[in-house]
Amino acid sequence: MFAPGSIWNDTDDQPIQAHGGGILYDQGVYYWFGENKNGPTFLSPAGLERVDIVGISCYSSSDLVHWRNEGIVLPAVVDQPEHDLHAGKVVERPKVLYNARTRTYVMWFHVDTYDYTYARAGVAISDRATGPYHYLGSFAPCGTDCRDLTIFQDDDGIAYIVFASEWNRNLTIAQLTDDYRSTGPAFIKAFSTPHRSKGREAPAVFKNNGYYYLITSGCTGWAANAAECAVAPSLFGPWQVLGNPCTGQQAECTFDSQGTFVLPVSGYEGEFLFLADRWNPSNLSDSRYVWLPLRMHAGIPSITWHKTWDFSVFRDSQKRFPGSEGK
Ligand code: GAL
Repeated sequence: MFAPGSIWNDTDDQPIQAHGGGILYDQGVYYWFGENKNGPTFLSPAGLERVDIVGISCYSSSDLVHWRNEGIVLPAVVDQPEHDLHAGKVVERPKVLYNARTRTYVMWFHVDTYDYTYARAGVAISDRATGPYHYLGSFAPCGTDCRDLTIFQDDDGIAYIVFASEWNRNLTIAQLTDDYRSTGPAFIKAFSTPHRSKGREAPAVFKNNGYYYLITSGCTGWAANAAECAVAPSLFGPWQVLGNPCTGQQAECTFDSQGTFVLPVSGYEGEFLFLADRWNPSNLSDSRYVWLPLRMHAGIPSITWHKTWDFSVFRDSQKRFPGSEGK
């Protein structure tokens, strides 16, 4: 059962530390990667609430409900203050894909300085989902600054990155190279605005019925705001804004949370899990997870609040994959 916003413990009865996370489904197992924020919250010299980097956590599960702690798969660096992963830096929104060509798990995340002016993408690799991950370094994808990001693997194995660029004035969408370790030459800029505060961030991508959907948040730091969904026949557009996918009470603040990932529910076509973070800026380690069903109605996604729920909400789905295990 999911209880969005409540404390969520792992199988050792410890609160899960996997914020700004994403899920990789690999050979029958779900792997949840996220920011481990298990440390004191304090104000950075830039006046932003922060927690020093602990590292990227990984949890594994076969049912999406019971999560086993696989440990910190990419830890903070302790003794080199200049290192991208030094505790005093920022590492956010890790996402992992499996690259079949190189048989490697490839992790992308936002790397930054405490004042968010470094703004790069970091890449780490491992030959096992549960790590340890080897840090390859950070760079400015497509030659531009990079803050909130996600990566997405299409059915044909081609992968893409979607990231907030030009101080969140654009979302840049770029194809990754075949090994998923870098960006290739093809990219677009979408959702452009001259106003930094009106940009979009926290991107999450999913695909349904041949169309690509992108859910983003507005730019209000740790404070919740309204989500927005857009749809396109290709990741390179043209993108059409559909509006807020959330409905009901607190839809205007994404049920007091900010999206981070959308996961197709194995066994049900057109049914998804929307993953979001309910940030707690006064104690970031106690930020909570808001996971809700995302359902499609005539090509339009809809997310509604459930105090508690399980996969039986999908039972009326007429659209089961043939031969699926029907989670
Ligand atoms: C949010 C962003 C988070 C984090 C936060 C810091 O806008 O989505 O990942 O960077 O700002 O204030």
